[in-house]
Amino acid sequence: MHGSRPHTNNKKPDNKKSGKWAARQNRDPFVRQSQRQGLRARSVFKLEQIDQKYRLIKPSSKIVDLGSAPGSWSQYAASKVVGNDQIVGVDLLPMKEIKGVRFIHGDFCDPGSHRQIFDCFEEGRIDLVLSDMAPNITGIRITDQANAAQLQDAILAFCLKALTARGNLLTKLFEGESVGFVRKRFIEHFDRVQMVKPVASRAESREVYLLARGFKLNSSRPD
Ligand SMILES: C[S@@+](CC[C@H](N)C(=O)[O-])C[C@H]1O[C@@H](n2cnc3c(N)ncnc32)[C@H](O)[C@@H]1O
Repeated sequence: MHGSRPHTNNKKPDNKKSGKWAARQNRDPFVRQSQRQGLRARSVFKLEQIDQKYRLIKPSSKIVDLGSAPGSWSQYAASKVVGNDQIVGVDLLPMKEIKGVRFIHGDFCDPGSHRQIFDCFEEGRIDLVLSDMAPNITGIRITDQANAAQLQDAILAFCLKALTARGNLLTKLFEGESVGFVRKRFIEHFDRVQMVKPVASRAESREVYLLARGFKLNSSRPD
């Protein structure tokens, strides 16, 4: 289940590492629990734990799930909302259908995909933006940090156009120099910005989530 291997954007583990990876998957209680419950990835428990603490998803929430495949976050969100047209997932990879979730197969960084998202909702009415996306890792630290910051810039630009007043954002980052820089960028536009690391996120993983709550609608409206 790729959701537990955030650096690889769904690539299968290479041969050298696959035995170790499979052993870790077999030992992982969150992998077993997600399989028992028919959920598509162990990542679901990261969102569930954050949502249980911060109550991000309300029955009426309109939600965009960026980097949604294979779909466990969208599955979770769909189980929490009441209507059928409240969730839109976006991914470079295909995603099997989930009842109540519309899916856009494409690159979020392509501005054309933003238009498609807006077409799914009435303009400017998104309550919650979720992103579990990760840029491809090159191994060159400075490039990886720049790519990570660039992706978060694209997410922030989208939030500025799409979020409703007091809307929220949850986005995945990797610890490193770009975190402080990215955080500063979001602080300007949200009442409260904090880093969260749910128990389901492996302690050895550098992934952390930036949770930005209370979007200040008038902080920037480019259009
Ligand atoms: C860790 S997985 C997401 C797992 C998902 N949250 C779940 O619970 O099933 C990250 C996903 O982000 C997608 N992704 C990365 N960059 C993207 C981009 N620019 N546009 C759309 N999807 C992207 C990858 O294809 C991958 O499926």
